[in-house]
Amino acid sequence: MHNKTISGFSKLSKSKKIDWIVNTYFSNQDQAKTILKQYWNSDEKLQQLHDEFIENTITNYYLPLGVAPNFLINDRMYAIPMAIEESSVVAAASKAAKFWLDRGGFKTSVISTTKIGQVHFMYRGDTTHLKHYFNTVKPQLLEAVKPLSKNMEKRGGGIQDIELRDKTADIPNYFQLHVSFGTADAMGANFINSCLEQFAKTFKAEALNFEDFSAEEQQIEIVMSILSNYVPDCLVRAEVSCMVEDLSDSKTIAPEAFANKFVQAIQIAEVEPFRAVTHNKGIMNGIDAVVLATGNDFRAIEAGVHAYASRNGAYSSLSHAKIENGIFTFWMEIPLALGTVGGLTNLHPLVKLSLEMLGKPSAKELMQIVAVAGLAQNFAAIRSLTTTGIQEGHMKMHLMNILNQFEANAEEKINLVNHFKTHTVSHSAVVEAIEKLRQ
Ligand code: MEV
Repeated sequence: MHNKTISGFSKLSKSKKIDWIVNTYFSNQDQAKTILKQYWNSDEKLQQLHDEFIENTITNYYLPLGVAPNFLINDRMYAIPMAIEESSVVAAASKAAKFWLDRGGFKTSVISTTKIGQVHFMYRGDTTHLKHYFNTVKPQLLEAVKPLSKNMEKRGGGIQDIELRDKTADIPNYFQLHVSFGTADAMGANFINSCLEQFAKTFKAEALNFEDFSAEEQQIEIVMSILSNYVPDCLVRAEVSCMVEDLSDSKTIAPEAFANKFVQAIQIAEVEPFRAVTHNKGIMNGIDAVVLATGNDFRAIEAGVHAYASRNGAYSSLSHAKIENGIFTFWMEIPLALGTVGGLTNLHPLVKLSLEMLGKPSAKELMQIVAVAGLAQNFAAIRSLTTTGIQEGHMKMHLMNILNQFEANAEEKINLVNHFKTHTVSHSAVVEAIEKLRQ
């Protein structure tokens, strides 16, 4: 066995895990241990809570939690919590919030909330027999998940439909039970997956008793049962609009010219995938940060959103803009399957705090807030890109990061921030300026 492998790692205590990892992979073992322990919470119960979120925990990995205030959404004010490591994102969101606060704010609506799960299976036989079986067994399928769906129905969710889908044009013998769900305020992954696994069990077992099936047809082979993170029918819309002439707040560009350039930038992202990916990445800067702060699964959101961005066969912009009758409108419709109950939402103290900051939103309300964070982020990025360029803002933050890296004191910071108002920021230029100042 290679000397850097181990068996039974998960069974070791936390401190033994740390001993092994530090002894095996670090040259300065004391330093590695000190860093790992620096990030432990001194409150043992809180630390244990975090230890138990995942397996093999050795420490905590911090992300900053920032706040973007001044969001007016459907005439209600919000301060939006954002967990993100990238500088400029919270500043950009706050700036966009303030800009639109003076122009009527954001308007949002939830278009749909349906989630999808599938039982993928193989069936060898006559398709009309299978259709007959499906129609016969459907009430039994629904009955079998009653213990699971009863509670969800009380909360306004449940199973909306089960369809049999013939996928044999893609793979021989491949069929699906394609199930749509409502999950109320829960993201619903556990509910959906539990229902699907029960459907699969009942579907397979009842086939053995179905008289119209031949012996071969009775042998339904379940491949897997799992929810889909593609949720094109769990859609939310966010929009801002104002008279073109009210778009001005910049000294460098007239409002009409800005509006036109903005629309051009969006059109480019609509037709050019290389630009669309970066454009949408900017949207996700806002979305992921709120998704993470509110304890939702950002990987699921990312996967679903990007799939949606390619729904017409080519990857394209999630946001759109137009000028009509002197009115500038900028909007986005995106799929967001979010929850405000269950999962981390009841467990992580900062998630609870973030949800409270947002006024304990329903899942539908959170969908709207998150969409707004994405649209605001996109507005700020396109505004910078089409006017001053993106580097101006980034470099200010970059400057602070470098100053912090060099442990600049308050006086040095003031001095150097001033200096770089009229000089171009680059890593070497900042280092040089610090060294000069310290001589
Ligand atoms: C950087 O994180 C995001 C941007 O590149 C987005 C964009 O280009 O639209 C600024």
